[in-house]
Amino acid sequence: MVKVDIISGFLGAGKTTLIQKLFKTKIANEKVALIENEFGEIGVDGAFLKNSGIEIKEINSGCICCSLVGNFEDALRELIDTYRPDRIIIEPSGVGKLSDIISAIKNSGLNLKLNVICTVVDGGKCKMYLNNFGEFYIDQIREANTILLSKTDKISEQKVIEACELIKTYNPTVTIITTPIFELDGEFLLENLEETVSLVDLLIEQVKNNPRSTLGLATGSSPIGTYQKIIEAYNNKEVSFKDVTTYNLDEYCGIDIEHPQSYYRFMHDNLFDHVDVKEQNVHIPSARGTKSEIQAQCNAYNEALKKASIDIQLLGIGGNGHIGFNEPGTSFEQETFVVTLAERTREDNKRFFNSIDEVPTHAVTMGIKNIMQAKSILMLISGKGKAETVVKLLSGEVTTDFPASILYRHEDVTIVVDEDAYSAMTKK
Ligand code: F6R
Repeated sequence: MVKVDIISGFLGAGKTTLIQKLFKTKIANEKVALIENEFGEIGVDGAFLKNSGIEIKEINSGCICCSLVGNFEDALRELIDTYRPDRIIIEPSGVGKLSDIISAIKNSGLNLKLNVICTVVDGGKCKMYLNNFGEFYIDQIREANTILLSKTDKISEQKVIEACELIKTYNPTVTIITTPIFELDGEFLLENLEETVSLVDLLIEQVKNNPRSTLGLATGSSPIGTYQKIIEAYNNKEVSFKDVTTYNLDEYCGIDIEHPQSYYRFMHDNLFDHVDVKEQNVHIPSARGTKSEIQAQCNAYNEALKKASIDIQLLGIGGNGHIGFNEPGTSFEQETFVVTLAERTREDNKRFFNSIDEVPTHAVTMGIKNIMQAKSILMLISGKGKAETVVKLLSGEVTTDFPASILYRHEDVTIVVDEDAYSAMTKK
């Protein structure tokens, strides 16, 4: 399998500086092919390439992103057949569509692994370019797994924050690196670019490999970006959910199923109504009726979970470390139950309601034991508000006072933390 790294960005953003930095890493020991496509402009300077001692094949075959996608695929095939590289680095034209290149690679039928998808964005020009080159620029931001915000040493901290916020409106789950490139260690940079795990890709791969997959799903702000990308992939016909079964983690008690904040509504508005999943395959705990009716529904959900075999469970994390709505103090052996929500949880979630009084006091949730039975777990943590939560999670202590710590005892967990949520760790 040949690794493919795409380094996109507008002319002058700093793609070449980044590529040169990468060439000074362990990449130097690999067989690398470079495909670059800057009209009339040689992105990476020839003398540097010669001196680097890396064998590099350059092909300039028209615009790889616009009309000549077919040629691009042929060029890729020829390159692989004749040169057999370990890694192909693609530096597309600045005003090209990153999505076109990604789909050309995905649909090429060649043995390629999309490894790095990075867009270099000039911090000082981000806003202006978004206004002037909307479509191309947005596409490069939206499709990237990592954005390297360049020239941040030349702009104010406020401008950096504004640029990050702007980028997040188009790509809420992207990792943004804001440290000036000259301060970054090449190996560290490469590790970060390569290790960016796209939850969306993992989920989509799962469904592609097994169209009858069972997914455990979460609500809240954390998975919204993931759901948007899943919908996009579905619209692009990359994946179908027609035979997928889903189980949600939890549901509030005391509000109607059609209440805008019910998790039933959330899931339909943010995912189910936009893809081809069948309503009969969707399972969300039912939390309506009398106390004994809710208890009976809890038991039934628990039985259904025991029979279901969840392939991937998506999780967010509460500020207090809850998973699902398993609040601090919950036994690790707990199965589906009616939980009294912690005050911290109600406070955190009041942003979705008009006032704290409207936030339900109880919910039905999968228990920790149910969650731990999933074959693999993907957790998404984002935002400054979760910075201290991440510190506690990564402390390594497994305790019922911090329910998410149980994940240390699961053998297949991927946790994706954005820079804001990780910020208290980098200060330590
Ligand atoms: C949601 C759920 C909760 C949330 C957690 C984080 O179904 O079970 O555990 O994942 O409260 O919520 P957000 O993402 O809104 O910060």
